Amino acid sequence: MKPRIVVLASGSGSNFQSIIDAINHNQIDAKIVRLIASRNDIGAIKRASNENIPFSVINRQSYQDPEEFVSALLNELIQCAPDLIVLAGYLNQIPDKVIKQFKNRIINIHPSLLPLYGGKGFYGLKVHQAVIADKKKESGCTVHWVTSNYDEGPVIAQLKVQIDKNDTPETLASKILKQEHLLLPKVIKDILEKLIS
Ligand code: GRF
Repeated sequence: MKPRIVVLASGSGSNFQSIIDAINHNQIDAKIVRLIASRNDIGAIKRASNENIPFSVINRQSYQDPEEFVSALLNELIQCAPDLIVLAGYLNQIPDKVIKQFKNRIINIHPSLLPLYGGKGFYGLKVHQAVIADKKKESGCTVHWVTSNYDEGPVIAQLKVQIDKNDTPETLASKILKQEHLLLPKVIKDILEKLIS
């Protein structure tokens, strides 16, 4: 049986697509069993439909009681029986109950060289705006294990990009996103290979 991956996403899903492409090109031997989307209007859902990957929408805002959101997410994940859970541009914090249930099975991609520019408030363009404002010479992306401390789990791998003086937050974001699409499938491949060896 192929290793089972569940992907969680909140955005356009280009990182999700990089995993789909790596599987379709036989670079990763695995099956994406479900996409869990945090909203029903995101690009990632279209990508799942194009590939006949089942998806669910679990929108935290639609639960009055936060515990109900936790249960919904946990139950959905348990049903999927994943070997690996990949946060690919997922903006909600993962509840502790979920982290405990899937210890050492959840990874996240973040568009900076963690521990720099991670944690609360550092998402989307805000990350790159802060990097440019600090006149950094380099930035990059990080894949790390997810623990209870937001963006602070052990780093698995990073790729760097150089920042030119003409770079804007937007050009930096797009340079880094290209590296994310290389890094994420590579890390998934390595983790799954270790899992089955
Ligand atoms: C990526 O930069 C990811 O690292 C960040 O949000 C962006 C999402 O891009 N967390 P996409 O939805 O995968 O296209």
